[in-house]
Amino acid sequence: MVTRSTFLTLDDFHKRNLSLPICPDVFIRLIEVLEDPKNNVGDLARTIISDPALTTQVLRVSNSAFFGISRQVCSLEEAILRIGFKGIWIIAAALKTQELYQISTCDWLGSHGALWEHSTRTAAFAHALCKRLNPLFCDIYFTAGLLHDIGKLMLHQLEPRYSEICQNGKLCGYDLVWREMELFGTHHAKLGAELLMHWNLPDVICDLVAHHHEPVGQGEPLQRTRNLLRVANEMARSSEPTLVPGYAFFNTPLDTELLDSVGLDMEGSLAVGAEAQRIMRLLKII
Ligand SMILES: [Fe+2]
Ligand SMILES: [Fe+2]
Repeated sequence: MVTRSTFLTLDDFHKRNLSLPICPDVFIRLIEVLEDPKNNVGDLARTIISDPALTTQVLRVSNSAFFGISRQVCSLEEAILRIGFKGIWIIAAALKTQELYQISTCDWLGSHGALWEHSTRTAAFAHALCKRLNPLFCDIYFTAGLLHDIGKLMLHQLEPRYSEICQNGKLCGYDLVWREMELFGTHHAKLGAELLMHWNLPDVICDLVAHHHEPVGQGEPLQRTRNLLRVANEMARSSEPTLVPGYAFFNTPLDTELLDSVGLDMEGSLAVGAEAQRIMRLLKII
């Protein structure tokens, strides 16, 4: 067991001969292409083509019933025009992030496990919240949602009983962060953000991930920005046990102080829930 005195950092993974999760090559290149407004459909298509598996999957998803396209899409350029840059990013980011989870054989952490399910759900809520409250940054929040708990994958590498610790104690939020600090001298949000910095992901994504369990702060624009991912995380948890497709509701009461901090009322929350479920339906066919 790792003890508190170790104050775990990324270097400890190297010292223990543990490999860090590797950022998929195409992930960074796609972010660069999508962030530069001068890039066009051809630039995006060329980037996707550099990853043959991704190319096949983008075409498969583009031809799925979700997009309701009557004529088959045969080229990437056509798929991008139909789905749009933002739609392509949702598909590509989810596919490449899911690969990271495939390294784990643990039922809870694997690519079909509860943590992946929670991560996609958080990403869907983050995207839906942003679309309503801060539409320019949907891609950023979607990505932060997908990756916000990646530190848990890392802690499991160090301590194989980590998933039991989380599940047996039904630990979440502050309680989990507190327990992780006792055991590892760090917590999954901080460790995950360090990994994303190491990958050279945009600072804003690293910041959101690092602070997704911090107490609710009011007023300051930066705090409001961070609270959006916290709301998405809470909505994902609250909707998990009995979510019914096509019907938006939350099983546990949402923290009204947290909702207030981003300017959302209960009616707005249900609208966000409905939009999140639309995105989750897309993620299910990926
Ligand atoms: Fe978390
Ligand atoms: Fe989470």
